Amino acid sequence: MTPHVAVIGAGIVGLSTAVLAQETIPGLHVTLISEHFSPNTTGDGSAGLWMPYCLKDTPQSDIARWSSKTYQHILKLWKSAEAGDVGVSLIPCYKLTDNPGGPNKEQPEWTKIPVAYQLINGHQAQKLSSVSDSEFTGGVHCISFTLEPSRFLPYLMMKFKLNGGKVLQHKVESLQELCGQQYDAVINCSGVQAHSLVGDNSVQPVRGQVLRVKAPWVFHAVLEERDDGNYIIPNEECVVLGGTQQEGNWNTKPDPADSMSIHKGCCRLIPGLKDATVMKEWAGLRPGRPQVRLERDHIRDKYGNTLEVIHNYGHGGSGVTLSWGCAHDVVDILKDILGSQPSAAKTSSKL
Ligand SMILES: Cc1cc2nc3c(=O)[nH]c(=O)nc-3n(C[C@H](O)[C@H](O)[C@H](O)COP(=O)(O)OP(=O)(O)OC[C@H]3O[C@@H](n4cnc5c(N)ncnc54)[C@H](O)[C@@H]3O)c2cc1C
Ligand SMILES: *[C@@H]1O[C@H](CO)[C@@H](O)[C@H](O)[C@H]1NC(C)=O
Ligand SMILES: *[C@@H]1O[C@H](CO)[C@@H](O)[C@H](O)[C@H]1NC(C)=O
Repeated sequence: MTPHVAVIGAGIVGLSTAVLAQETIPGLHVTLISEHFSPNTTGDGSAGLWMPYCLKDTPQSDIARWSSKTYQHILKLWKSAEAGDVGVSLIPCYKLTDNPGGPNKEQPEWTKIPVAYQLINGHQAQKLSSVSDSEFTGGVHCISFTLEPSRFLPYLMMKFKLNGGKVLQHKVESLQELCGQQYDAVINCSGVQAHSLVGDNSVQPVRGQVLRVKAPWVFHAVLEERDDGNYIIPNEECVVLGGTQQEGNWNTKPDPADSMSIHKGCCRLIPGLKDATVMKEWAGLRPGRPQVRLERDHIRDKYGNTLEVIHNYGHGGSGVTLSWGCAHDVVDILKDILGSQPSAAKTSSKL
């Protein structure tokens, strides 16, 4: 019997998982169930920079494993004949710190992944900075990529459909409604909405607002290391200016006060942005969680039907950065489930 799984959520996490599952498990039927689709997911508003960020207590070894798989995948896309269609660009990045001792000499494990990653000293940081008497004491310079979800999500969706995937636009009110159906497993990639779905109160929005401005002369990213720091990340059509990190704030409307402070902060970093035309203001909710949740679970409805569930949510400010690596771990778990009980869903659905 051909196995059948449902993926909930058509954001960067859900679509990556759905496509990798199709491509790894021959004959697998995948149904993608989602309330919103690109261009209306959280990732669509993000700049899509590969750089672990806002992940709280997620273990460093997990961050390194997931972000590394994603970086390798992005490199492969960038070298492929399809590079121009998927929204991938190589960009140099500077991350500047005002830490009195300069950049932390002990950099996290993931910093070994990019093709280049170097510490820069206070003297070099000063040269880059246009802030006179700059507070910057150093930082890092690295080569990274942007994988723009507004371009990449439509590409993934096209692949998903070509691979025979089915798409359902539907809001799942509770996982129980999927019990006793045709699914051998359900993969939960519901982002910040995991909060209400099963009542995982540890999922909290970390609101991020950005401005997209016209500044085609900016080719590099600049980020301030502190948590509420500003950042400037070029995308194909616009340059993305950020940002805010407002925990517990569910407001998805752009706030004029935030726009003003983002504009001011970014113009301090690159004064030439002052007169750049603002094309778009946007706010989205990062799915904040003490740790990314990626694990196997199962639920039972009131008729006694059980359903295998794999959770894959809570990627904070790194959903793009971790997407492909997390999808690999989910597919490994899925292989275990399908290998150990090939027709569980079929038997229960006869009840
Ligand atoms: C301003 C900003 C900038 C960012 N910049 C970056 C960056 O540069 N690099 C990076 O790696 N990350 C960045 N992020 C973080 C990244 O955008 C998120 O981590 C990522 O989008 C999360 O993806 P997701 O697929 O889990 O969630 P979402 O994109 O929120 O997708 C969730 C999907 O699940 C669906 N869904 C939810 N509940 C249900 C339900 N009950 N029934 C049916 N469907 C449901 C939704 O409709 C949606 O389609 C940024 C975030 C913000 C806000
Ligand atoms: C995105 O949202 C807009 C506004 O609500 C809606 O008109 C559009 O159909 C949505 N797009 C998709 C692909 O769902
Ligand atoms: C996804 O997981 C969250 C957290 O456990 C839960 O609240 C939600 O109901 C789940 N959603 C689905 C559709 O399984």
